[in-house]
Amino acid sequence: MRDNHFYAILNEELKLDNKKMNIIIFGPPGAGKGTQAKLIAENSNLHHLSSGELSRQMQKDKQMGEKIKHWLEKGQLIPNSIIINIVKKYIINNQDEKGFIFDGYPRNLGQAKELDKFAKKNKTKIDLVINLKLSEEEALKRILKRGKISGRSDDNLKTTKNRLHIYKTRTEPILDYYRKRKILKEVDGKRTIKQIEKEIKKIISQETKKTD
Ligand code: AP5
Ligand code: MG
Repeated sequence: MRDNHFYAILNEELKLDNKKMNIIIFGPPGAGKGTQAKLIAENSNLHHLSSGELSRQMQKDKQMGEKIKHWLEKGQLIPNSIIINIVKKYIINNQDEKGFIFDGYPRNLGQAKELDKFAKKNKTKIDLVINLKLSEEEALKRILKRGKISGRSDDNLKTTKNRLHIYKTRTEPILDYYRKRKILKEVDGKRTIKQIEKEIKKIISQETKKTD
């Protein structure tokens, strides 16, 4: 009898850990989206989907590689007709019992709506959007520091200024889309990586309990 009770508790914990969730990590270039998404994915039941990483990999593509390389170097958004399909393909290829943490996706309203449609078709939804807030000044500082070693063609002053401008004008406005649905959580991105990680984990854990 006692054993059964013990296993019931254990199963309950496992159920929480295995809950399928879809999370978006949002924020300007340099906010720490990649850093935090990786940490969360390592410790949870989520696939890390970085549209930036997928785009960088596509630079090797025979058909589209040259164009993608150009957009990345300029810091321009890859057209929706291309990036939406790249992301969908990744989701389809990684569909299992896990959810996703979307890093850098969506970046405009068209992508956000398409993601919702695709999720609905797959009988799932976006559960949580975490907005990592960081000033442009701090973001620029972090990216230029990383640029010394990253080898990323977009980690330079001119391109980063353009990336920040595109974020402000095209990406940040879609936060309202999620705010209205009450699934948006704001996180101060200017603290240490550890402090931010701790806060994000707390938010996810609260969300997990809510949707139980
Ligand atoms: P993407 O790769 O997504 O780049 P980004 O959004 O510009 O952001 P970064 O990757 O530079 O920053 P991050 O927020 O991930 O921060 P990180 O953790 O690295 O996109 C690149 C390009 O791909 C786009 O410009 C576009 O062309 C294309 N693309 C991608 N998605 C697209 C989409 N959806 N639609 C169309 N086109 C798309 O941290 C930055 C640095 O700071 C690191 O060195 C890190 O170590 C450090 N750091 C992190 N956290 C902290 C902290 N708390 N304190 C101090 N330092 C920290
Ligand atoms: Mg990143």
